[in-house]
Amino acid sequence: MKNKTCYVTTPIYYASGNVHIGNSYTTIVCDAFARYHRLKGYDTFYLTGMDEHGLKIEEAAAKRGITPQELTDEVALATKSLWKDLKVTHDYFIRTTDLNHIENVQKAFEKMLANDDIYLGSYEGDYCVSCEAYFTKTQLGENNTCPDCGKPTRRVSEPCYFLRLSKYSDKLLKFIDEHPDFIEPESRRNEVVSFIKSGLEDLCVSRTTFKWGIPVLSDPKHVVYVWIDALLNYLSALNYSESNDSNYQKYWVNGEKVVHVVGKDILRFHAVYWPIMLMALDVPINFKLYVHGWILMKNGKMSKSSGNVVYPKDVTSRYGLDSLRYYLLREMPLGNDAIFSYDRFIERYNADLANDIGNLLSRSVSMINKYFNGEVVKPVSYVNQFTLDVEKVLNESLKKTDEAFSNFRFQNGLIEIWNAIGRANKYIDETTPWILAKDEAKKSELNEVMYTLYEVLRNVAILVSPVMPDTAYKMFLALNVTSDLQTFASLGFGKTISVKVLEKVEPMFVRLDMNKELAAIEKEQEEAKAVKKLELKPEITIEDFDKIDLRVGKVLEAKRLEGSDKLLVLQVKIEDEVRQIVSGIAKNYKPEEMVGKYVVVVANLKPVKLRGVISNGMILAASGTAKDALEVIEINKEREYAKVK
Ligand code: MSP
Repeated sequence: MKNKTCYVTTPIYYASGNVHIGNSYTTIVCDAFARYHRLKGYDTFYLTGMDEHGLKIEEAAAKRGITPQELTDEVALATKSLWKDLKVTHDYFIRTTDLNHIENVQKAFEKMLANDDIYLGSYEGDYCVSCEAYFTKTQLGENNTCPDCGKPTRRVSEPCYFLRLSKYSDKLLKFIDEHPDFIEPESRRNEVVSFIKSGLEDLCVSRTTFKWGIPVLSDPKHVVYVWIDALLNYLSALNYSESNDSNYQKYWVNGEKVVHVVGKDILRFHAVYWPIMLMALDVPINFKLYVHGWILMKNGKMSKSSGNVVYPKDVTSRYGLDSLRYYLLREMPLGNDAIFSYDRFIERYNADLANDIGNLLSRSVSMINKYFNGEVVKPVSYVNQFTLDVEKVLNESLKKTDEAFSNFRFQNGLIEIWNAIGRANKYIDETTPWILAKDEAKKSELNEVMYTLYEVLRNVAILVSPVMPDTAYKMFLALNVTSDLQTFASLGFGKTISVKVLEKVEPMFVRLDMNKELAAIEKEQEEAKAVKKLELKPEITIEDFDKIDLRVGKVLEAKRLEGSDKLLVLQVKIEDEVRQIVSGIAKNYKPEEMVGKYVVVVANLKPVKLRGVISNGMILAASGTAKDALEVIEINKEREYAKVK
């Protein structure tokens, strides 16, 4: 029998830059899935992490003058901290530079080599560094651009190990045929089937043109192709091994649910290469693939060059975490793209969060306090004509939400929950509690209405908890729900016997003024554009800096260097020594302006000849921006002599 386990994974993110709301969507939706399964009692293992090898990362590190390891350490740290802020509850954060992963990849590669599923050949092709993938001529865009990201590809030729994809294509087609729900949604499954049917060429799975990767154990000139390396993370994280007590046995081999969640752009790698690797490794294909679309901006794809990238903090710092988590999951239907825009976000915030769920909670709690001193008691019998319908709608919503959340349809699940919320809000208008309250004979009917609202809210809090953990917490607190009534088993109408709610609740979502918000966001974006990041030379250490000997010197004489409009020749007295220094400040200072100044001199700079004149040291000068005039750094003139360090 299968264990009641759930293993859910995000793709591992390239460690070359910051994670934006697009990648955050994947992590948040997987988090909701993991939380929901924990709630349902599944022993759940949620994996995310970083894809840290490859040419792209090697080049990004070189550009910054740091090692790839330093770059990936930095990005991994920042990403982990972002996930913490977004309340992501992963059980493990894998990095492909982890030692156990490296060993796992090396072993797997050797195993496939020994079985002749991998063989040595040579490859010439058009390679996209950004996507770390080769493309055939027919796949390339205009001017040999990458069909996925549009950037130019490079012609690359190298000896290379190949994975025999062709050998497995019939077996894979058969597998997909026998497992109709292997890839969801169906449109993506069809895409995969036609890709395989169009003929699979063997895949080049090693590289010799760069170093930053996992060396092939038996032939270390080669590093393992980054996608083979990356895909194996899903097994490394489970301590993939033959032993019976590993997580691999528990969550993968004998697990009930193994779910990989990926964006549409990386479908081929997960739906074709990965299952074939598993067949070659003799690992059961136990997983299911959910393929989602992209979060787009109104003007298309998010990209640094078009300056339209939105980071989670941009949203959460103004509107809190749950509104972002809700918006992303509510807007994105499985398989299709969704648009992120602030006006749509604010609309949803006001309608769904401030009005629907927020108002239902605050109105209900305040009425329960007003009419019953905060006490809610389960009625002995029900008399109000609308109660039954509310109960029916709630119970249906529970069933449909469960179906949706269990099958990764978060948009559908949230629509179902909001149906119940909408029904409860309508129930208030139908039952008019303020009129019932005027009639002492209607006291028990009024209690029934309050109880019904309470039970809808308690159920809603449980259901939204995987998506909006803070909101659920606030609701449980306001409704004073004991922990046994916050569980999956306690879902359903009528489980509460009696309870006293909190006297007062703060609004969970304060209504936003659309125009004011949009203006503020625009202003923020303008300001952010104005503050361009400094383009710096590679970082130096304090030890590097310590090599510089800075001294204060007094300028005794200064004259123009003949034939140059940039250079001044200065005689500078440092302690008892007089130095000749040639300095490029003639455009900013007349010679006579320099005389008498106390300046800072790099005193141990190797002497050079400039236009035939010896320069023994350098005078420090700086400017705010490239447009500003250069200014010499001066030391307090009152002091006859000073030593800077
Ligand atoms: N490193 C590979 C994955 C290896 S998994 C074995 C990779 N990394 S990535 O950082 O480029 O992308 C990671 C995920 O983020 C992909 O699933 C991709 O679809 C997703 N997204 C990137 N931009 C996105 C949006 N704008 N919207 C939604 N998802 C997006 O590919």
